[in-house]
Amino acid sequence: MNNLNGKKIFMTGSTSGFGKVAALEMANNGASVLTTFRNQEKADALLNDFKRQYPNAAGSIDFVQCDLNAFDSINKACTEVGEKINGLDMIVNNAGIMNPKFKESADGIEQTLHVNLLAPALILHNLSDLLKGSEEPKIINTASALHQGVIRFDDPEFKKGFKSMDAYRQSKLGIILLGRLLSVEKAHANINVYSLHPGVIRTEISRDFNFLMRGIFWLMGKSPEKGAETLLHLVENPADSLEAGEYYTNKKVSSTTPESHDLKMAEQMMAMIKEYLKGHINKPSFLFD
Ligand SMILES: NC(=O)c1ccc[n+]([C@@H]2O[C@H](COP(=O)([O-])OP(=O)(O)OC[C@H]3O[C@@H](n4cnc5c(N)ncnc54)[C@H](OP(=O)(O)O)[C@@H]3O)[C@@H](O)[C@H]2O)c1
Repeated sequence: MNNLNGKKIFMTGSTSGFGKVAALEMANNGASVLTTFRNQEKADALLNDFKRQYPNAAGSIDFVQCDLNAFDSINKACTEVGEKINGLDMIVNNAGIMNPKFKESADGIEQTLHVNLLAPALILHNLSDLLKGSEEPKIINTASALHQGVIRFDDPEFKKGFKSMDAYRQSKLGIILLGRLLSVEKAHANINVYSLHPGVIRTEISRDFNFLMRGIFWLMGKSPEKGAETLLHLVENPADSLEAGEYYTNKKVSSTTPESHDLKMAEQMMAMIKEYLKGHINKPSFLFD
């Protein structure tokens, strides 16, 4: 891996799955990784694995507590990030969920929408100013090959009939659209935004599904090490060798659905996100308004 000495990286979703492999690798290669956790035991396990596997690591791992299911928790964590670290080079929104059944977040919003789309948007709103001093600022969002369809503006929480996969697909289409929109906005043209699909990976993502579904996932899935490859590719390579705004799979730009290029839908979605975040946004402008 290329040298990440001096790079300051904020990341969600590094307490399990391929995000954990990526965080360990980044810290081993010199990055200061500041990551969220919601479960103390898993945070301790990440730190212990780091010390055991990489006793001579060039970088570090530090934590902020954050439940992405609650806007107050996200805001508190972001304030803490600002206190702990003097600027950032990268923001990696990797955490995500897939729920078999309809569940509400602490803010009374369907959880897939909350965790996979609204939470990253609020994080970017809060933390993107910290990227301003970086020579090569990057935002990396973990999407999925499951992003077919449209944003259902009439029922974004699937209250009229919850379908797990549809809710997941919508949230991942949303994060790709968010990346594309941020990338074309002139005001922040120096910030490089990427989305990625890690592959089908053996992780805890199917934890709440039945035995059969978990088994299928486990049999089909590749290793977390393999899953970390595209994320690490985007982290370590210079922006001029990557395509900003694009969606990556297998370390390459990948073609996607026409809907995932629809900037009009992206703008409408941003207005929807802003509405959801009303009362939780502590700055007059939203994201890169
Ligand atoms: N696995 C795949 O085949 C696959 C394919 C395409 C895309 N993805 C995407 O890849 C990303 C990583 O998933 P994974 O497969 O590595 O799954 P995973 O093993 O379940 O990891 C998910 C990570 O997100 C964190 N997270 C989930 N909900 C959270 C919350 N409310 N607050 C704080 N952290 C939360 C988890 O924290 P805890 O450790 O505390 O649970 C964990 O660190 C997700 O965005 C997922 O949608 C995965």
